[in-house]
Amino acid sequence: MADKARGPRPPRVEAARDEAADIGVEARLAAGVLLNAALEGRGGLDSALSFREISSLPGPDRAFARAVAMAALRRLGEIDQILDRRLQKSPPLAIRTILRIALAQTLVLETPAFAAVSTAVKLAERDPKTRPYKNLVNAVLRGVGRDGPGLTTAESNLPDWIAARWRATYGEAGLTGLALAAREEPATDLSVKPAIDPAIVAEALEGEVLPGGTVRTGRRGDIAGWPGFEAGDWWVQDAAAAIPARLLAPGAGETVVDLCAAPGGKTLQLAAAGAEVTALDRSETRLKRLHANFERAGLPVEVVVSPAEDWEDDRTFDAVLLDAPCTATGTFRRNPEVLRATKPADVAKLADVQHRLLDAAAERVKPGGRLVYCVCSLEREEGETQIIAFLRRNAAFRTAPADPAALGAPPEALTPEGWLRLLPSQWTEHGGLDGFFIARMDRIA
Ligand SMILES: C[S@@+](CC[C@H](N)C(=O)[O-])C[C@H]1O[C@@H](n2cnc3c(N)ncnc32)[C@H](O)[C@@H]1O
Repeated sequence: MADKARGPRPPRVEAARDEAADIGVEARLAAGVLLNAALEGRGGLDSALSFREISSLPGPDRAFARAVAMAALRRLGEIDQILDRRLQKSPPLAIRTILRIALAQTLVLETPAFAAVSTAVKLAERDPKTRPYKNLVNAVLRGVGRDGPGLTTAESNLPDWIAARWRATYGEAGLTGLALAAREEPATDLSVKPAIDPAIVAEALEGEVLPGGTVRTGRRGDIAGWPGFEAGDWWVQDAAAAIPARLLAPGAGETVVDLCAAPGGKTLQLAAAGAEVTALDRSETRLKRLHANFERAGLPVEVVVSPAEDWEDDRTFDAVLLDAPCTATGTFRRNPEVLRATKPADVAKLADVQHRLLDAAAERVKPGGRLVYCVCSLEREEGETQIIAFLRRNAAFRTAPADPAALGAPPEALTPEGWLRLLPSQWTEHGGLDGFFIARMDRIA
């Protein structure tokens, strides 16, 4: 299960490696609860974070539990391959969870084996239902420690239906690249206000400036304590997520509407460029986060709570951004749970929503104006297929081809049509980026 090199790796969560020996059984139990909640479906992980057994843990224990659950999710297929070779028959889920959590610690987070094994055995001992398996837990974990994990395949970490889809869309080598990217914990990316030099932010946070100006740092921990956070000098945004607003190229004083704005990473970019920005979203709760982000950055914005299709306002705009709701399969590096939470029927359901939203967005574009459509999905139905159909329905729009070099995007992301298909397997020299589909269409004047 040794890692293949994919560019610079962020340092591990410090707590996970250095303090793991002092962190107790409760944090391991919490890791198991988080893992199973994430496997249960969409929203499972978020709601589990508010469970008492998680929220009542001290900060470092909670961070450790989350790091272990994330590591287990990223490598679940490989961990199960290792376990299944050693188990004559499948044990109850509670035992498999204890074993998964222990292997995520030893094989991924490099937690000292004595700490991972002894806490796993203690966990099994605690419950009368799992107690009979305590010797099995001990034997399996010591066996892996003694003999090594053996060969595993990165593709095994992907649900079968997703692997089949990506093989069909991106080919065998493309699938392998995506599976390798899905094993890695990404660094943290920051978008920096235009008035601030990204090199200064990068120096303060021991990071690097990526093409396009995103600062990438391997720092971990509470970002609210990092230099520049309070002053609103930067905000967290994956390098790929920063590209749609650059492609829209808002000019100072132009009117721009962001139709699916919350929590507002892209809206902040538009406002920071000096545009007059309207941020619309159907979710009032998510818009609260947008408000907080704008307050911190000290930027002006008009906020509207409404579904984009039903917005009772007849304004048109120089530029429209539609960052549509999607399966988010391109964000698996940061949110490994999306691959478990997404079900095959979601793709068609969301494609319908995207179709409606694209038509609503087109109506908001002034003649001579521009529309950028993007989704953080790797599924063609949510990207290329949407734009092919949109251009057929809307004769007044033409693709404005993207220039990857000017946008700070990997050159291989450019499609023959002039759209961008960003893949987590691109930019390996920098440590990858989220998957996105991005297209700009200009409305004939
Ligand atoms: C991909 S997220 C947007 C992320 C945001 N652009 C950013 O960069 O931070 C999609 C958003 O669309 C919103 N949404 C979903 N359906 C919508 C609709 N019909 N009208 C407006 N917003 C909608 C969701 O509430 C969600 O906040």
